[in-house]
Amino acid sequence: MTADFPNLTVVDHPLVQHKLTWLRSVDTNTDSFRNLLREVSQMLVYEATRDLPTELQSITTPITTMDSPVISGKKLCIISILRAGNGMLDGVLALLPLARVGHIGLYRDPETLEPVEYYFKVPSDIADRQVIVVDPMLATGNSAVAAIDRIKEAGCVSIKLLSLLAAPEGVANMHRHHPDVPIVTAALDSHLNDHGYIVPGLGDAGDRIFGTV
Ligand code: URA
Repeated sequence: MTADFPNLTVVDHPLVQHKLTWLRSVDTNTDSFRNLLREVSQMLVYEATRDLPTELQSITTPITTMDSPVISGKKLCIISILRAGNGMLDGVLALLPLARVGHIGLYRDPETLEPVEYYFKVPSDIADRQVIVVDPMLATGNSAVAAIDRIKEAGCVSIKLLSLLAAPEGVANMHRHHPDVPIVTAALDSHLNDHGYIVPGLGDAGDRIFGTV
């Protein structure tokens, strides 16, 4: 957590920071960008799941029997905010292979920067699951706030947000609307520019993942 933003955890591990540098670089091609995003997402979700509850299970090792921890508690659901969230899914699912996956389609109105919903599909038992929302860029935070509004409407009470990069504006917006939702990110950048892009950022994450520049 940072002093200014109690809802934010910045994962400052050297491996994350090294890979983030190459994600930011304009010289990184689409293939490398996807691979790096998958790797960093894996490390971010490792941190985001640090507080998962465990219970002891009795097992037998080749040497003896013992009580050893296994993950317990609510099952997980990953919700991707389309389309850039999909770039984080593979990495997250590599560590949480049994998690269900939901999708929320929101696009930013280029004039107002407000989110407009065009798709919502989540597991029917979502209210009983612990949710991790994935969206690489927490910019204004309007999309994340709107997505989490919808997820809460569906009955979820346990939600985290995983973003590759965050802007102070987005973190503050999330804290205003959803102070109960912890955010895990690789970096807190400086600010948003006039077009709502994160500075220094990495450009349009969706374009860089899908090569649509
Ligand atoms: N969305 C992006 O893809 N990049 C930004 O910098 C802000 C929002």
